[in-house]
Amino acid sequence: MTIDTEGLAQELIERIERAQDLQSLEALRVEALGKKGRITAEMKQLGGLDPDARREAGQALNAVKDRVAGAIEARRKRLEDQALETQLAAEAVDVSLPARPERRGKLHPISQTVDEIIAIFGQMGFEVAEGPDIEDDYKNFTALNIPPEHPARQMHDTFYLADADGRVDMSTVLRTHTSPVQVRTMETTTPPIRVIAPGRTYRSDSDMTHTPMFHQVEGLVVDKKTHFGHLKGCLQDFCSAYFEVEDVPLRFRPSYFPFTEPSAEVDIGCSRKGGELTIGAGDDWLEILGCGMVHPKVLAMSGIDPEEYQGFAFGMGIERIAMLKYGIPDLRTFFDADVRWLDHYGFAPLEAPTLIRGLTP
Ligand code: DAH
Repeated sequence: MTIDTEGLAQELIERIERAQDLQSLEALRVEALGKKGRITAEMKQLGGLDPDARREAGQALNAVKDRVAGAIEARRKRLEDQALETQLAAEAVDVSLPARPERRGKLHPISQTVDEIIAIFGQMGFEVAEGPDIEDDYKNFTALNIPPEHPARQMHDTFYLADADGRVDMSTVLRTHTSPVQVRTMETTTPPIRVIAPGRTYRSDSDMTHTPMFHQVEGLVVDKKTHFGHLKGCLQDFCSAYFEVEDVPLRFRPSYFPFTEPSAEVDIGCSRKGGELTIGAGDDWLEILGCGMVHPKVLAMSGIDPEEYQGFAFGMGIERIAMLKYGIPDLRTFFDADVRWLDHYGFAPLEAPTLIRGLTP
């Protein structure tokens, strides 16, 4: 018996290369290499040959088997690539098409509030500064005059990060406030400084009025003659613009923060008559922020001469002022990712707040 191995190989390979889809390719594989396939059948015939002819024909058949298997693999790869390309072409999205905000997609109230804050302080000549969420202990605490063992550290419910071996590493934290951005700015800029720093902050605290992640905005002004009057005026202007109430009543209460001296907490005048909260009227007060004159030690630690410069700083909770302005009663709903909530409290994405057209769309 002589087998036309070359003819068999050519015929199979030609048909493999013409296979139009993965299904017919699989059928061809079974026909050629399957248990009852043609090459397998030829192999079974080898037993009837004399030893020399058997060796020769066996080698030839094995070579055919390899070539056919190789051709199937190559064809399979090609068909799979083609199928993927067809799928990608069919699912292509034109990202340059205009958005249709009237149909879907709302801006989260936190994003809206941050945009409003930036619009107001931007108009006053502030720049936006940034720092990382993962901060070192030095900038989050020590450089803000909160040395190790300072009792203020206990109040921060700090998340410490683990090192590469999984051990808690006391030198790296999730920032507990945006104040370390003050340090970063002072370390790298020569005054005059006028920045705000909105961003995420973290504390290991979770109940009705606390979430482990929340947002703050920090403010820092440093110059030769900056004084408490500037701080008051700046916050007064901000609150009037943000709450859209002329001459909004503010109350500065003496307080304590390690990084400011003197320090104050600021309350905004409001009314809670009939269970409804109105900002800017009535005889009730609501705390909205902490502030003060930057402590000379804090200036010095970041390389600014306190004999030459002085400054003020403030820190505000963004969720809190968003809740007050937009009547959102429950803090935790901010982070529920409930699209019905977002649909109700969210904002049209293309209406960037400006002081000229108005903050709120
Ligand atoms: N970092 C403070 C906190 O998270 C808030 C704060 C208070 C920031 C006074 C300031 C400031 O810049 O001057 O509780």
